[in-house]
Amino acid sequence: MSNDTRSLSTPQHRLLEIFSSLELPILAAPMFLVSGPRLVAACCQAGVVGSFPAPNARSVTKLQEWLEQIVSDRDAAAGRGEQWAPWMLNMIVHSTYDRFDTELELVRRYKPPIVSTALGSPARILEAVHEYGGAVIADVVTPALARKAVAAGVDGLVLVCNGAGGHTGTSNPFAFVAEVREFWDGPLGLAGAVSNGRDIHAAQVLGCDFALVGTRLVATEESLVEQAYRDMLVDCSMDDIAATKAVSGVLANWMKPSLAKAGIDPNAESRAQIDFSGNIASANKAWKHVWSAGQGVGQVRRISTVAELVDELHQGYRQSVSRPV
Ligand SMILES: Cc1cc2nc3c(=O)[nH]c(=O)nc-3n(C[C@H](O)[C@H](O)[C@H](O)COP(=O)(O)O)c2cc1C
Repeated sequence: MSNDTRSLSTPQHRLLEIFSSLELPILAAPMFLVSGPRLVAACCQAGVVGSFPAPNARSVTKLQEWLEQIVSDRDAAAGRGEQWAPWMLNMIVHSTYDRFDTELELVRRYKPPIVSTALGSPARILEAVHEYGGAVIADVVTPALARKAVAAGVDGLVLVCNGAGGHTGTSNPFAFVAEVREFWDGPLGLAGAVSNGRDIHAAQVLGCDFALVGTRLVATEESLVEQAYRDMLVDCSMDDIAATKAVSGVLANWMKPSLAKAGIDPNAESRAQIDFSGNIASANKAWKHVWSAGQGVGQVRRISTVAELVDELHQGYRQSVSRPV
């Protein structure tokens, strides 16, 4: 697979080309305190788009080290003639996030083929990313926000639906995809409890070009989490998930045993304020002790490597695609 996507005409075409060239059209969801360069490398080597959120690197110096690592792993794989799927960086574009300008400089330098934006308008990064041939995607939780992202000039959308790990949406995927497809025929991804190969196929049947997989990847050996988090994922099922604003101020899905351990009542009024100016450390604290998972957690039956998980998803996907209807 070529890493030079600039020859293709528009960022939208480049995105579609990326996902249609993958045997399994998935994007490993960027996850706070979960995804780092090791997970990115394992995903890209396994043939799916790897990603991480920039704030996972504690400092800008660390972020630069991680980006350096990723491009050198990619170049080494290319040198050995091995596959390496494109990668994605997830950036906070909220106006209070004070690392934004420095991170954008690093984006210009390390040129992630895809950049996704969280907590603000994607318009802030479009020019810089398009300049080097990259594409920008935005997560949205309602059709109104999807329209807003499209108006801002985004190249692809991810519809974050009910039941997603991390900050979740509340929309039903059937209704959400159908409504967005009425005004958006560009690259479209589905997020929220996509947990096995059949789900990935189902996302395509609904009208999406790719799907995000989050929770299942937390339980891999290459994620950054501690072992007890992985073990809790194996032990939990859908009944053990609660959606609440009580942890971070934004609606998110959490594993109830971790909420109970931290003494957090999921029914309590929101306590946290959304402000990224200096509170990555306090966000760190909340997310470190209370563990997020989506409603698909019941599909996590064991801890595996990324390669094993992608293999399993691929097998389920192939079976679903070839199943007579
Ligand atoms: C532990 C955890 C942390 C997450 N952190 C982020 C994040 O920092 N940025 C982001 O855009 N999405 C984040 N997400 C959401 C994912 O990108 C994705 O929407 C979600 O995992 C998909 O649902 P699933 O977990 O049910 O597969 C996070 C999800 C989880 C489980």
